[in-house]
Amino acid sequence: MPKRFYEQTRQERLVYLAEQGLITAAEQELLQKNFPLSDEYANHLIENQVAQVHLPLGLAFNFVIDGRARIVPMATEEPSVIAACSFGAKLIQQAGGFQTKSTERLMIGQIVFNDVGNPAKLLQTLAHEEQAILRVAHESYPSIVKRGGGTQSVQYKKQQMNPQSTSFVTVELLIDVKDAMGANIVNAILEGVGAYLQTKVNEEVLLKILSNYADHSLVTATCKVHTRDLARGIAGEGNKIARRIVAATDYANLDIYRATTHNKGIMNGIDAVVLATGNDFRAIEAGCHAYASRKGTYQALTQWTLNEEAETLIGELTVPMLIAIVGGATSILPQATFTQKISQSESASDLAKMIVAVGLAQNLAALRALVSEGIQKGHMNLQAKTLAATVGATDIEVPKLIAKMKEKPTMNQEVAQLLLQELRMENNQS
Ligand code: MEV
Repeated sequence: MPKRFYEQTRQERLVYLAEQGLITAAEQELLQKNFPLSDEYANHLIENQVAQVHLPLGLAFNFVIDGRARIVPMATEEPSVIAACSFGAKLIQQAGGFQTKSTERLMIGQIVFNDVGNPAKLLQTLAHEEQAILRVAHESYPSIVKRGGGTQSVQYKKQQMNPQSTSFVTVELLIDVKDAMGANIVNAILEGVGAYLQTKVNEEVLLKILSNYADHSLVTATCKVHTRDLARGIAGEGNKIARRIVAATDYANLDIYRATTHNKGIMNGIDAVVLATGNDFRAIEAGCHAYASRKGTYQALTQWTLNEEAETLIGELTVPMLIAIVGGATSILPQATFTQKISQSESASDLAKMIVAVGLAQNLAALRALVSEGIQKGHMNLQAKTLAATVGATDIEVPKLIAKMKEKPTMNQEVAQLLLQELRMENNQS
C-alpha cells in the first residue's frame, strides 16, 4: 500500500506533489531549498535584519469549499494543528463540505478630530464637504480608482468621554483596495483628505490611520456534520458528542476564560494560513478578537447547533477577514506565491473564504476532542514525533523511536534521549 502523505518523508512529499501536477519542477526545487529569502528582500521588508526565523509549512487536506477541493497551506510551530484541521475538514466533507459568503470588501480609514467644542457645526461642515472629500480621496491614490476601487463612501461620528468633556469627531472613509493589503493605499488617501480638511476646518486633527476592525469585510463559513461521524462508529455516541459541542460553545459564550481558549483554537488555523500566505496576522488577530466582543462581552466566534431529527450538527463562523494576495509581504516572500498557487486562491476573497473555513474546521476538531476523549490522546503521537525530532532522531529512526516511547508510561525528552541511545545500540548490534 502506498504511504499516506503524513507517513512520507519531506522529500517524498515533494515528489508526490510534483507527480500529482500540484507543483512544478521549479517549485519543487524552491521547496527543497526552503524558500530562501535573499538579504536584499529581507532588508527591504524590515530594518536591522540579522537573521531569519523559520516556521514549518505544511498542507491540510479534505477541504471542499463551495464545491471546490482546496489544499490548505499552514505555517505553524504547534504539533497536531494541521492533523486536527484535516480531520475536522474530513468530517465536514462527509456532509457536503463548506459553504461560504462574504459582505463587500472595504477597508475603513479614520481621520479623528480632537477637542471639538462645537461638534454639530463640524459635522455639518463635513457633510457639506462630502463631494470634495470623495474627489480628494480619488486624487490622492488615482491608481486604485483606475483598478475599479477607491473610496466608496464617507461616514461621520461624534464621541465623548463624558457629557462634560469636549468631543471627538471622526470621518470614516470606506475604501475598496481590491486584492491588496491596502494599508499604504488607505493611509495615503487619509493623508490627502486630512490635509484638505485642515484647509476647510479650524479643528485639530488628532490622528489619521486605517482601522483593523474590518467589519465591512466579513466572511462567513458554514458547514454540516453527520453526528454519526463524530463518534467513529459507536452507535448513539455521535448525538451525545454533538450535544456536548453545542454545550461547550454555549459555555464559551458565558465565560471569557473559556471563550479566549475556544477562539485561540480557531486562530490556530486562521493564523497558520495567514502566515503561510505572507499576510499580516496581527491585523487579523486584532480584528477577530474585537469582533468576538461586538455584543459587549467577549464570546465564542463559532456557533454550533444540533438538528436532532436530521442527526446533523451545523456550524458557522463569521469573522472580519481582510486578507491580501498582492502587495507587501504577499508579493515579496517566496513562499507566498507558492501558497497562493497551491491553495488555488484566485482572489483575496477566495483566500479569505478558505481561511474562515479553516477556522471552522479547527474549532470542530478541537471541540470534538475536548468533549469526548480529551485533547491529550490525539496529541500523544505528535508529541512523540516532536520529541523524537528534538533529540535528533533521523527520518528512519523517528517511527521506531515513537513506537518505543508509546510503550513507556511517561513521554519526555529524557525518556526519548535514552530510548534513542537504546535504539542505536540495537541497530549497531544487528
Ligand atoms: C490548543 O492550541 C487549542 C485548544 O485549546 C482549543 C480549544 O480548547 O478549543 C485545543
